[in-house]
Amino acid sequence: MNHLLEESKYMVVRNAIPAEMFDIFKYYFTFNFFINESYNINAGNLMSNDVVLPFSKSKYADPLVESLLITMTEKMNEYTGKELIPTYSFCRYYENGQYLVKHKDRPSCQYSVTAPLFTMEENEEPWTIFIGDNPIQLNNGDIVIYKGQEVEHWREPYNGELHVQAHLHYVDSKDPEYEKFFYDGRYSCGYDKDKLKREYSKLDMIRFKEIMEEESC
Ligand SMILES: [Fe+2]
Repeated sequence: MNHLLEESKYMVVRNAIPAEMFDIFKYYFTFNFFINESYNINAGNLMSNDVVLPFSKSKYADPLVESLLITMTEKMNEYTGKELIPTYSFCRYYENGQYLVKHKDRPSCQYSVTAPLFTMEENEEPWTIFIGDNPIQLNNGDIVIYKGQEVEHWREPYNGELHVQAHLHYVDSKDPEYEKFFYDGRYSCGYDKDKLKREYSKLDMIRFKEIMEEESC
């Protein structure tokens, strides 16, 4: 167990992600954002209770960020002094004026990481995240590990053009209370839970129509 992390609820690790990864991130997120548009958006949903406002673009289990989630597990075990199981990854595309509402996270986020992966403007000033009133600034490669379920965290509005942030979430494999959150309830890492939900609701609609037709016969 890492007593500093357990008491402070957060811990900064400098240079945790290898520098050579950032060239890959630069091209990958530029292609994703500007060409493939590989993200979900809450625009049009005024009832959205997303923690990032207004209307940010994001991706659950983005293949590259999900790969980072898995490959960081071993380092995360060292940093936390726990044997962790990945739950899910989330990739957030912050644009000018968007901010992170003060909040705590759900149980799948027992041990979380946030890390900057890409900014449109090279050498942009780090964008402060507040964890339990502590301002934290991260450069490329740096991560903050935090117990998102226990401590409030937020960001003031973003002044830049585009900033991609990875969120990596884990739970303690030895804590029986968290067993149901392994892989965030998915069969394994890699599945897009939002997409599965959409597919299921489509199937439900088809089944609903079938039932209605059967009943009217
Ligand atoms: Fe959070």
